[in-house]
Amino acid sequence: MAKLVLPGLVDVHTHLRVPGGEHKEDFASGTAAALAGGVTMLLAMPNTSPPLSTPEVLQATRQTAAATIRCDVGLFAGASPADIEWLPACAPFVVGLKIYLNDTFGPLRVEELPVLRACFEQWPAGQPIAMHAEGQSVAVGLGLAAAYGRPVHFCHVSRRDEIELIARAKEQGLPVTCEVTPHHLFLSQADAGRLGPLGDMRPRLASPADVAALWDHLASTIDCIATDHAPHTLAEKNGSTPPPGVPGLETSLPLLLTAIHDGRLTVERLVELMATNPRRLFHLPEQPDTWVEVDPEAVYTITAEGQQTKCGWTPFAGRPVRGRVERVVLRGRPAYENGRLLAPPGTGQVLPQGEEF
Ligand code: DOR
Ligand code: ZN
Ligand code: ZN
Repeated sequence: MAKLVLPGLVDVHTHLRVPGGEHKEDFASGTAAALAGGVTMLLAMPNTSPPLSTPEVLQATRQTAAATIRCDVGLFAGASPADIEWLPACAPFVVGLKIYLNDTFGPLRVEELPVLRACFEQWPAGQPIAMHAEGQSVAVGLGLAAAYGRPVHFCHVSRRDEIELIARAKEQGLPVTCEVTPHHLFLSQADAGRLGPLGDMRPRLASPADVAALWDHLASTIDCIATDHAPHTLAEKNGSTPPPGVPGLETSLPLLLTAIHDGRLTVERLVELMATNPRRLFHLPEQPDTWVEVDPEAVYTITAEGQQTKCGWTPFAGRPVRGRVERVVLRGRPAYENGRLLAPPGTGQVLPQGEEF
């Protein structure tokens, strides 16, 4: 097959660790990893330190981003019980609200129904709400979407029960959408022992039957594939209390191109899942003169070495893949070419544009 040209990919779920976790990743390294993976626009999660739950922190983080990002970045505001009153003031600076219903890395958590209701009542109508919801929390999110009649996006769905419930809710006409991650598509509990802490994330790796259910729903129920790139250092992962999370920006497209070669996915569906649908769901702008050139026949093995992410490891090390990102062009300028990073920090745009600049 000849060279394949894809639109710039949009990752709606990335952890860039600014502020407070820059030793794991920062805007310059995280957006470098994005470009190396064919991602030209990403949405950064708010479970930072401090979290992105007040307008002050958001404005400061946008300023840092403007000076250091190499691709386009939007931020999520995080729902925090102590900061709920600030939600409306946060809205102009972000692409959406993220609500964490279950335990994961960082302090952001909403467990009380009055606080959940306040989120839905305070957050401006028409602005997206995304949820980290596992197991029964998915039913809570569906109930809120129904009660308030507004869209809810479910992050990193990983279990058969969850995806089948979301499929039913969609059939009933509820305005809900969802994403899956490459690690939940390409790894399972069968890999967990081998990987140890490098295979620990939230949601945890699921059973092979759960993985099969996600693949079954990839052509229908699932709206997006998102990386949930969640870098932690090797020292942290090998320490006594390893934080959950795995990097994914640089491995996602090669894994998915391999699935296309294997006949499990089509190029057209990949473009819907990683470009068209993400843009539509989160009201993101087009990027003119932006594309990704891929050699779909390049055969190689994923390694930890040579990555742009600061964390320096990947749960996919040793895996053979077919398909390599050769060149990324962002707004007419070469941003990445054959392993070389060409986009300097500060060349990306912060979304939504123009709030304080
Ligand atoms: O494994 C995870 N890591 N899941 C999350 O929800 C958060 C993330 C992180 O920030 O490290
Ligand atoms: Zn999450
Ligand atoms: Zn996440």
